Amino acid sequence: MKILTAEFVTSADCLKTCPDFKLPEVAMIGRSNVGKSSFINTLVNRKNLARTSNTPGKTRLINFYNLNNQFMITDLPGYGYAKISKAEQNKWKKSLEEYLIEREPLKFVFQLIDARHEIQANDLQMREWLEYYNMPVITVATKCDYLSRNQAAKSAASIGKILHTPVIMFSAKDKTGKEEALNTIEELLFKHSD
Ligand code: GTP
Ligand code: MG
Repeated sequence: MKILTAEFVTSADCLKTCPDFKLPEVAMIGRSNVGKSSFINTLVNRKNLARTSNTPGKTRLINFYNLNNQFMITDLPGYGYAKISKAEQNKWKKSLEEYLIEREPLKFVFQLIDARHEIQANDLQMREWLEYYNMPVITVATKCDYLSRNQAAKSAASIGKILHTPVIMFSAKDKTGKEEALNTIEELLFKHSD
């Protein structure tokens, strides 16, 4: 699949304010700073369509991007950012969960996990939670460029073993995994039938 057009459409702070775009939707989830916004920018060949930053935990909004007028990608705030107050974290967690469970056009999520580190408890919690609600998840190991090919493959294999799924090895820097991610979107949104 080729991405020909990509534009930011709007932000919403909870499910109720999410517009109906009448297009299938894919969401990015993962810990703060794992590379969700960079992943979107890589898929659409743009440096700054989705805002990236070294200061995690800034946005608390669901950001909607329209790709090819064919589907929507949502960039979600990361979980597990400790410097935000517990009350604030819980409030956001509730909005995020509501979006993930009840958002009708949402077909699957990419869960991003940093290839350099062990899977964290909150990644596992999120995964179990998504599986409980029958939300399909595609696992992506990010920042593979920091590792040798061999190390990256080992890390992806160990993530895959823990989660019992295939893993897309990805790098926003050298674009490893970009085609695989786009093919996955095409497969799950446009060729999938049950
Ligand atoms: P939040 O929105 O805060 O949850 O973070 P995020 O998951 O959207 O991460 P973001 O894309 O903003 O990336 C965080 C930092 O990691 C930025 O400085 C990126 O440039 C860097 N980064 C993201 N992906 C990669 C990658 O594949 N390789 C390298 N080397 N750096 C990356
Ligand atoms: Mg981001």
